[in-house]
Amino acid sequence: MNKKNSNNKENPQVKIAALQAKINEHNYQYHVLANPLISDAQYDELFEQLKELEAQFPEFVTFDSPTQRVGAAPLKAFKEVQHDVPMLSLDNAFTDQQIEAFDQRIREKLHSEQLIEYICEPKLDGVAISLRYIQGVLSQAATRGDGSRGEDVTENIKTIKMVPLRLRGSNLPDVLDVRGEVYLPLKGFEKFNEAARKQGEKEFANPRNAAAGSLRQLNSKITALRPLEIFFYGTGLVQAGKFPERHSDVLKQLADWGLRINPLIKVVRGFEACLQFYQKILKTRVTLPYEIDGVVYKVNHLALQKKLGFVTRAPRFAIAHKFPAEEAFTTITDVEFQVGRTGALTPVARLTPVHVRGVTVSNATLHNMDEINRKDIHIGDTVIVRRAGDVIPEVFAVIKDKRPPSAKKIIMPHQCPVCGSAIEQIAGEAVARCSGGLFCSAQRKEALRHFASRHAFDIEGLGERLVDQLVEANLAQTIADLYHLKLEDLINLDRMGKKSAENLLKELESSKLTTFPRFLYALGIREVGVATAKQLALHFNTLENLLDASVETLQNVSDVGPIVAAHVAHFFHEPHNRKVIQQLLDVGVNWPKLEKQTDLPLTSQTFVITGTLISMSRDEATERLESLGAKVANSVSKKTSYVIVGSDAGSKLEKAKTLNIPCLDEESFQDFIKNL
Ligand code: IVH
Repeated sequence: MNKKNSNNKENPQVKIAALQAKINEHNYQYHVLANPLISDAQYDELFEQLKELEAQFPEFVTFDSPTQRVGAAPLKAFKEVQHDVPMLSLDNAFTDQQIEAFDQRIREKLHSEQLIEYICEPKLDGVAISLRYIQGVLSQAATRGDGSRGEDVTENIKTIKMVPLRLRGSNLPDVLDVRGEVYLPLKGFEKFNEAARKQGEKEFANPRNAAAGSLRQLNSKITALRPLEIFFYGTGLVQAGKFPERHSDVLKQLADWGLRINPLIKVVRGFEACLQFYQKILKTRVTLPYEIDGVVYKVNHLALQKKLGFVTRAPRFAIAHKFPAEEAFTTITDVEFQVGRTGALTPVARLTPVHVRGVTVSNATLHNMDEINRKDIHIGDTVIVRRAGDVIPEVFAVIKDKRPPSAKKIIMPHQCPVCGSAIEQIAGEAVARCSGGLFCSAQRKEALRHFASRHAFDIEGLGERLVDQLVEANLAQTIADLYHLKLEDLINLDRMGKKSAENLLKELESSKLTTFPRFLYALGIREVGVATAKQLALHFNTLENLLDASVETLQNVSDVGPIVAAHVAHFFHEPHNRKVIQQLLDVGVNWPKLEKQTDLPLTSQTFVITGTLISMSRDEATERLESLGAKVANSVSKKTSYVIVGSDAGSKLEKAKTLNIPCLDEESFQDFIKNL
């Protein structure tokens, strides 16, 4: 020990650098090559040595030291990152015929009689990420976001040990954007959920949500606790002298630089060989330690890829061949009715827990009574549950032959299971509702959650469990009560430290300054979503004008029909709603006055946006249009001036064509606003 110390004193910098290099090499061997050369205990010992030395000589801690992967100070928010090359998505195919047609299109476009060379890759079901290396050094990691802009999650990505902080090897590009998929292996996912279950905390519905949730942590120390992994499958912007001609060689090059590439990737010729790859992967899928939801075929030659180009959002040279939805047999042990914000009752089946490829499913939505009757579902039935991607599992079908004599019919309760109020169902509507309104604690909880949500008052820190506690402890019965919470109230709650309580109070204070549309949306009026709230705000300009508007006047608002108008009028006539509104104003909730905009270039024009836009999100396009005086509506009618058409546009585009409404694709739209 003494000898070691004296050595360190002689040259701690060299010793630290050597240890860093050694551990980095073991990280690479273990995580990227799956080839551990030392035991975990030996690794830990090296790590401890390095930590000790670095603590003694902090001036020699470098950015790429393995000790820098444990997470940094929490962020307040993620920075936005613009992608130099957009992060696209893929078109999906589900059948062999669709793949044949894909191949046919490609051969036609390329005038090729020969078999096309494809690279086949598993399609990881995680979160897309883009990493930037500048002269081999990891400088930034960003999520896909809307494809053109994502969030800076560098600190979180650095916690993934298989992500090199510095690339290995030679001929490194000046700038290299590499793209890949971050995922949580099934084991890590199950472990996480097991721990969450034990602590009564929320479990993740599937590994993909778990990966997304882990990456979106503002506190990277939390991310560091999740065993995230990554596979790289492509590049974005590359500034390099020369680059390989085939995608498969690009991947080889990435691997040489120390980036982890999926070992199942295969180069084949012709679509039939692609289909064979699909079948093989479909069979080995259950043995994989991570989730895949299909395979991807890409034309291998980059020059051909370039020739084929893109259709707005997706490349023409690649396609995702998705696996069918996954099913499993289980039994329904009970049915419970959950009460939503508007009192709507949703029947939820409790199931004998069953694994549907790694994910334990113990609940499935039954949607509503009509659905139950249509599928003839009974308690005690053996059913097929289905899970497709991140969709909530549902009961796909009943195996009637297996119905036990004890099976029970599912009956809509007459009283709310939460508050005991009468259940009402309007004739012709599928949904039944609890009539308890804010008397019902389930509805109160949902109202608070809605109020705090992102498009409403956006109160960070007011999560689901906290809302439950506030309602149960009688600390917040209405949204206005939130503004009367005191530090003493909060710190007595479960898992609420002084710091988080103070933060929440700060958040609440700053949330008081809002906008009129947000305020209206946050009230949770039935059928009033973000868009309608905006229209109401624009039309009435002040709350006073809106409060006493009649059902008839309300229908003058674009997008508001008789049903929405009735809900709005009814809401503002309820004395208890008025009281809550007054209370909110009394505690200081306020918003800047809206200016009536009559002389802007798009005043009195109505736009509808459909499909996915690449250069901006829909919200951004809407804001841009509104700032120019236009209205943005949800549905196409004769009153629509223009329809902006992104990729994957559906029925709205059809309707626009039928009504002869001018359509703008994304590029023309950009030109259009530039030329105003
Ligand atoms: S290539 C230009 N390859 O699937 C092509 N994507 O719907 C862009 N994904 O957002 C994607 N495995 O997150 C590609 N081997 C793979 C993939 C893959 C998973 C994800 C990716 C992308 C989505 C496309």
